[in-house]
Amino acid sequence: MRFAAAGTNSEHSYPLGPRGATGLGRIDRGLRTAYIADMAVREIIKLPDKRLRLKSEPVKRVDAGIRKLVDDLFETMYDAPGIGLAAIQIGVAKRVMTMDLSKKDDTHEPQVFINPEVTWASAETAKYEEGCLSIPEFYEEVERPAKVKVKYLDIDGKEHEIEATGLLATCLQHEIDHINGVLFIDYISKLKRDRIVKKFAKAAKHSMAD
Ligand code: NI
Repeated sequence: MRFAAAGTNSEHSYPLGPRGATGLGRIDRGLRTAYIADMAVREIIKLPDKRLRLKSEPVKRVDAGIRKLVDDLFETMYDAPGIGLAAIQIGVAKRVMTMDLSKKDDTHEPQVFINPEVTWASAETAKYEEGCLSIPEFYEEVERPAKVKVKYLDIDGKEHEIEATGLLATCLQHEIDHINGVLFIDYISKLKRDRIVKKFAKAAKHSMAD
């Protein structure tokens, strides 16, 4: 997930656009990959890729393969940059997602959710302008439950349940939707959704022709 530079979440650091615009993003990434050679920035799949509609499989055991997947998700999410990323967005249909809602560039607050499940949602709702790394440059307000309880496994396979509000609640629901094959554009008007799907289908066709 990502947020627009303008609007309600403008204080946020990640949505400020491609770091590559200053060239700094590239240097930063180069330095980092020199030290952490195992991590890899993976390609983020985009609309209208059909894999985005897959229902991801639960993780049976949090093993080395899952930990490597989590590393790649973080590396890809920070590089994008985004505040949340589900495994299916790099083409892996497993119920794994990463998030970092920290507001400063120099402090990271990485969070991992394995087999996350909404166990309760409030009747009260909240609106956020959402964006998605799989639907770049498109932002729209989405109304969702304002509070949720989410059960999940951490990187050690230990079970937790948290109660989330605000941005955390929105981001958790956005990412859990991904692992169920749901996109945030499913909540907007059909007219707007059809327009954006068409735009991305056309762009995909053009890039294939290149
Ligand atoms: Ni998304």
